[in-house]
Amino acid sequence: MENFAALAYLIAAVCFIMALRGLSSPESARQGLAFAMGGMALAIVTTLASPIVTSYGLIVAGIALGGGGGYYIAKKIEMTALPQLVAAFHSLVGLAAVFVAAAAFYSPEAYGIGMSGAIHLNSIIEMSLGVAIGAITFTGSIIAWGKLQGVISGKPVTFPGQHMINAAMGVGLVVLIILLCTTQSGFIFWLIVLLALILGVTMIIPIGGADMPVIVSMLNSYSGWAAAGIGFTLHNNLLIVTGALVGASGAILSYIMCKGMNRSFLNVLLGGFGGEQATGSAAATGDRTAKIGSAEDAAWIMKNASSVIIVPGYGMAVAQAQHALREMADQLKKEGVKVRYAIHPVAGRMPGHMNVLLAEASVPYDEVLELEDINRDFAQTDVVYVIGANDITNPAAKTDKSSPIYGMPVLDVDKAKTVLFVKRSMGSGYAGIDNPLFYATNTMMLLDDAKKMTEGIVKSLEH
Ligand code: TAP
Repeated sequence: MENFAALAYLIAAVCFIMALRGLSSPESARQGLAFAMGGMALAIVTTLASPIVTSYGLIVAGIALGGGGGYYIAKKIEMTALPQLVAAFHSLVGLAAVFVAAAAFYSPEAYGIGMSGAIHLNSIIEMSLGVAIGAITFTGSIIAWGKLQGVISGKPVTFPGQHMINAAMGVGLVVLIILLCTTQSGFIFWLIVLLALILGVTMIIPIGGADMPVIVSMLNSYSGWAAAGIGFTLHNNLLIVTGALVGASGAILSYIMCKGMNRSFLNVLLGGFGGEQATGSAAATGDRTAKIGSAEDAAWIMKNASSVIIVPGYGMAVAQAQHALREMADQLKKEGVKVRYAIHPVAGRMPGHMNVLLAEASVPYDEVLELEDINRDFAQTDVVYVIGANDITNPAAKTDKSSPIYGMPVLDVDKAKTVLFVKRSMGSGYAGIDNPLFYATNTMMLLDDAKKMTEGIVKSLEH
């Protein structure tokens, strides 16, 4: 039985690696998910078949409750609310790590890691790291959920001496972990939990809304390491492998996102970015006027173009305009216009947000290009159709050192002959700053809901 379980776990681990590989591209993402589900099903069945499982009542109740809740939430969730859902799920992984560590601390015999008060040194080290990371992940993810859900202000919440206090708490945690390893005191165990819970809050609260994607992915990484910690406590190799995979992939994703926003990871962690109001030269300075157009104007301009690049952003997701957009592109292609899509790495509210929506509308993958592959083409493009995007096109990121998005690579839409902006008002985007492009001479604003405006353009093109 043990050999069979080891083999099944090995196959499941390979499935998880194949899943991550599949998820690296939209073409193979479905296959990746199939691998993930297959691997997880095999892992669960193998664990349930283990001889150490003596009663199924509580397990079945737990699966029914957790699985039923998960199914209901996944069915109901809006695409735009996925980041906060992910944050909420991470908090549960953190909490699970704390519970497992507490159970193992009070009943070490049941886990085969020693006797109460005399837990093996390696096990108590693993346990204390797992409980600390788990507790930080728990409260940190709740704060991230609150910020993304709008329950807590998305602005950075800072207070004097914040970094020093966080650093002191970090050092305090290390000292307590050493103390726990030497004394094995229950009081110290719960002090670690308490301090880590507080540190989770104080670490995430100063981080501004614009950095939340990086933080969610970082917490994803933490939850992976916490799960790996549980794996060590439970002597479960698959949990160690899976936790390490989640931990490492979350860390890599955080790094890629930091690169996409031209920020250092430390700079993100120290917080204070995002949620600012317009400042400096990018702010509205008064007497600027914008050209306002209609669906008919936009249809005429695009019909007479030879190339159009579509830049989707968060507003397209909110309006669910991807199907109308696909229809518009089909109409334009019929007129002989070359149509492509430009994707910014942080467009929308989660990594790959735009890719998922365009794939849902069956937009051909070869028409969808990443920033670095298409940015040079804007200068030779007739029309850019910016639909519900704002920050990712803001040239202030290149020119205005006082701008909170300074240094973030942006799509050079301003280099095209004509830029059409579809949004409902002249208001700002996620970073809360004005976009000078709205007032540029080659820009036309199409002020309406993204879906309604695009449907209007489709109608005009049909006639
Ligand atoms: P934003 O800069 O947030 O701009 C979106 C624009 O869409 C808004 O200005 C809004 O203007 C418009 N909009 C909203 N609802 C609309 C609707 N129904 N119809 C038409 N327009 C609508 O989005 P972006 O350009 O995609 O940039 C993403 C931003 O989010 C970046 O700052 C990024 O750092 C941040 N962020 C990214 C992620 C990830 S990983 N992608 C996660 C969290 C945050 P109106 O209100 O005037 O309509």
